[in-house]
Amino acid sequence: MACERTLSILKPDATARNITGKINAKFEEAGLRIVAQRRTRVTREEAEQFYAIHKERPFFADLCSFMSSGPVVAQVLEGEGAIKKHRDIMGATNPKEAAPGTIRAEFSLSIDENTVHGSDSAETAAEEIRFFFRETEIVG
Ligand code: CMP
Repeated sequence: MACERTLSILKPDATARNITGKINAKFEEAGLRIVAQRRTRVTREEAEQFYAIHKERPFFADLCSFMSSGPVVAQVLEGEGAIKKHRDIMGATNPKEAAPGTIRAEFSLSIDENTVHGSDSAETAAEEIRFFFRETEIVG
């Protein structure tokens, strides 16, 4: 399997509860390496741009309000098959459907406050990484 990079976001419900270290421990234990990381607060406009693919969905407005409601930690994870591995560790989008032991099963409050975001394909990963980081900020 190829070495990949994926974008990970620890959402405002994770920073509010001070559980970013617990979440990152799970990524690192699974062999993923944090090769870039920035704690930031996205504006509503940035959230709308980042999630533009969902702009017709009924949850879009709430999603953008939530993502701009507090600090997030944006990071690039690197490793073998990182995109799928990251998604497997996160669990299903809806925490009620997430498998035991996954981050969303363990920590998420609801489908909206679902603690983490991860890129869903190689194309999306490249785009989402560019949204937050310059190539020189990623140090493998
Ligand atoms: P995320 O992986 O960040 O991608 C889009 C987010 O929209 C998703 O996680 C959820 O937090 C949120 N969301 C809210 N309702 C839904 C829904 N019905 N389907 C998918 N995503 C949803």
